[in-house]
Amino acid sequence: MSQILVTGGTGYIGSHTVVELIKAGYEVVIVDNLSNSKLEVLNRIEAIVGVRPKFYQISVQDKEAMRKVFEENDISCIIHFAGLKSVGESVLYPVKYYSNNLGSSITLLELMDEYHVHNIVFSSSATVYGTPTRMPIVETDPIGNCTSPYGNTKFQIECILMDFAKSHKDANVAILRYFNPIGAHESGTMGEYPTGIPNNLMPYITQVAVGTLECLTVFGGDYPTPDGTCIRDYIHVVDLAIGHVYAVHKLESNPGLVIYNLGTGKGTSVLELVNAFQDANNMKINYRIGDRRPGDVVENYANCDKAYKEMGWKATRTIYDACKDSWNWQKKNPHGYEE
Ligand code: NAD
Ligand code: UD1
Repeated sequence: MSQILVTGGTGYIGSHTVVELIKAGYEVVIVDNLSNSKLEVLNRIEAIVGVRPKFYQISVQDKEAMRKVFEENDISCIIHFAGLKSVGESVLYPVKYYSNNLGSSITLLELMDEYHVHNIVFSSSATVYGTPTRMPIVETDPIGNCTSPYGNTKFQIECILMDFAKSHKDANVAILRYFNPIGAHESGTMGEYPTGIPNNLMPYITQVAVGTLECLTVFGGDYPTPDGTCIRDYIHVVDLAIGHVYAVHKLESNPGLVIYNLGTGKGTSVLELVNAFQDANNMKINYRIGDRRPGDVVENYANCDKAYKEMGWKATRTIYDACKDSWNWQKKNPHGYEE
């Protein structure tokens, strides 16, 4: 049986995707250098699906080490999650981001040539749309003009993949543009635990809920939106993970290059998310309205019709589900994967 290579498979989205791939009957091989994840994730995956995926602790940039993975397995498709993802850090250390994110992607494409692997799914981001000019965002809207080096790496990798697809008639490439993933596995055994003080909204809320942080600052209450706070498209990480299984199926039909937004199609404001969290978990979240965060766009949500039309995929879980699952994970694992 051939295998799916999942780079970054012990990370937040990767780990949930590995679970869904195994549930769908795929054999999975993970490559991760553990720069932003823990080995413990493998135990959690095994506890959920009863199978321990094969694991290599190496950097995708290490071509020699990666050759071993391709020699020892019969890879039919790659899902490429591995990458650095902190927007703020990318501004401070841009070269680190270009080197890791572009370097790992180029190495993978070279190895695909060498080992005749034709199918690849890439983790892109809504950030490639820069400052969008209309809502909801469709896949044909302009990309580029990103607001950070991190965003630039996603845009540039997309360009490389598009050129790769053009020049390789037998290549199948799925570029998936994620909106804002939140939530956790319903078992409460897998979820997101960022290092340091979270930048993203949901982990900040759960850390206030668990008492690690004192008070959420809502960045701006005077935006031109119904309640004055910014609007985003929050998608449950399990829905997002399932989207990758659909993308792998799609690539099996030899479509060439495909690009999909993965979101819910629905905008939710910061205060709506805070309220949903309070309702779903029957608790109060201590928050205050603060200054706007530089660089934030007022609203950002996806039109996801194309993914439904062409793959039959759509998100089914609600914000309420995501709030319950995020809290279930956080309260059972107050220190993430560390005991
Ligand atoms: P994550 O940090 O939890 O997972 C990424 C994994 O990649 C980590 O386990 C890390 O150790 C690993 N990694 C990084 N560089 C590597 C390398 N050179 N070799 C091997 N492993 C390496 O992040 P995530 O939230 O699961 O995101 C997965 C992907 O989706 C990333 O590419 C990210 O940019 C993209 N994305 C994430 C979001 C989000 O909000 N989480 C939104 C849009 C796109
Ligand atoms: C950020 C990144 C984006 C990345 C995405 C997912 C920026 C400018 N953009 O998007 O590139 O793809 O994360 O990782 O960093 N908020 C608060 N208080 C907080 C935290 C957030 O009010 O403590 C608000 C923000 O102003 C925003 C919303 O919550 O309106 C969501 O923020 P966040 O989770 O950081 O995601 P994005 O800004 O959409």
